[in-house]
Amino acid sequence: MRIAMIGSGYVGLVSGACLAQFGHDVICIDKDADKIARLKKGEIPIYEPGLDKLVSDNAKAGRLQFGLDLADAVAKCDAVFIAVGTPTRRGDGHADLSYVYAAAAEIARAISGYTVVVTKSTVPVGTGREVARIIREAQPSAEFDVASNPEFLREGAAIEDFMKPDRVVIGVESKRAREVMSGIYRPLNLIQTPMVFTNIETAEVTKYAGNAFLATKITFINEIADLCEKVGADVHDVARGIGLDGRIGRKFLHPGPGFGGSCFPKDTLALAYTAREANAPQTIVEQVIEVNNGRKKKMARKVIDFCGGSVSGLTIGVLGLTFKPNTDDMRDAPSLDIVPALQAAGAKVVAFDPEGMTEAGRLMPGVTFTKTAYEAATGADVLVVITEWHEFRGLDPRRIKEAMRQPRIVDLRNIFNPEEMRGLGFVYEGVGRPQPRT
Ligand SMILES: NC(=O)c1ccc[n+]([C@@H]2O[C@H](COP(=O)([O-])OP(=O)(O)OC[C@H]3O[C@@H](n4cnc5c(N)ncnc54)[C@H](O)[C@@H]3O)[C@@H](O)[C@H]2O)c1
Repeated sequence: MRIAMIGSGYVGLVSGACLAQFGHDVICIDKDADKIARLKKGEIPIYEPGLDKLVSDNAKAGRLQFGLDLADAVAKCDAVFIAVGTPTRRGDGHADLSYVYAAAAEIARAISGYTVVVTKSTVPVGTGREVARIIREAQPSAEFDVASNPEFLREGAAIEDFMKPDRVVIGVESKRAREVMSGIYRPLNLIQTPMVFTNIETAEVTKYAGNAFLATKITFINEIADLCEKVGADVHDVARGIGLDGRIGRKFLHPGPGFGGSCFPKDTLALAYTAREANAPQTIVEQVIEVNNGRKKKMARKVIDFCGGSVSGLTIGVLGLTFKPNTDDMRDAPSLDIVPALQAAGAKVVAFDPEGMTEAGRLMPGVTFTKTAYEAATGADVLVVITEWHEFRGLDPRRIKEAMRQPRIVDLRNIFNPEEMRGLGFVYEGVGRPQPRT
């Protein structure tokens, strides 16, 4: 199968490389000339574990190419995937579909021979039909079908998620397109991956429903964590106690500073917008958005209260800035709310993140970045854990304590053991855990 992937970002590049690994002939297109030049040289523009090897293996095998020429790639392919960004539109919170529609218009002019045009970007219900309309209008004789194939990969585990997905959702409405899509994902039959074939609208709604449900689960446990803090309960035990119930499930019950990232914030907003427009308001999702936004803001207050009501003149060490571990993605990261609020309250912030500091440097003026976690702790009056990078769990608390001016930790991801930290002489506060009785 010959595949063109339009957009070579987190999703396009991973999907393109994985489809090449399936044995297809893939070309990843992007309009960012610098990105394509780097990819052609073998440089990976994002941090995603395992992606460099996957890309280089498939490029060497001749199955994966990169280019700027969308028209040429589309003219030669059996299927073209649209994997461009769908960020939040300024002003109203809806998904900005201008990149999708621009790509569709370019594809429309280039189609030659039967082609399946697949939206892999997360797009509001109705977008697939609009893509079909754009193509039909630009080239009435074009032989094509549209399909919706939302992507469920998680940054940081993207390759595993693409190669061994829980399921593949495909919205498709002709036998011919269904055959092409089945052919693309045929290697997954070997591992008996469930294939959920639906109409196009259903596939589009499924993606948003999935993300909104997960965002709701996180927000639910975060509010339970607040209750635990007030009444002397431990949210981890509560999460285990409920998560072992098969109807609830154990995943996504880890409390923290609120969800961020490139998907949940914008997708919950877009779903709420679509639903209001359709006169079927999603009041639970609207509440989740509000509670989560408030939570991210409250986290700086938690640090300030922990420091006795003021952080003015204090040095705050921060561990972790990306929205989650194993990515360099800073989009809508909780750190973007927390760090500026601490600076505004008069603190000096010294931060370390294994992969996010280049991007954070652009987004967080006035922060001093360090080369190691220990350096971020050095001279700090309080250390705040914002992202749970695995390497932070292995830090030597004694060394941290020696380095700090005052041994105080606010652990917004509960990566440390409270008793152990207090036993070592730290003043320690996590999320949703009992405070020592005084
Ligand atoms: N990042 C994730 O974890 C994730 C997971 C599932 C779904 N998604 C969805 O996938 C889509 C893409 O997300 P992403 O994180 O990969 O975005 P991204 O911003 O990393 O990548 C988008 C790429 O598309 C390119 N582009 C835009 N218009 C183009 C055009 N006309 N022609 C060629 N290239 C073009 C941009 O230059 C950019 O490199 C979004 O809809 C997102 O919601 C993302």
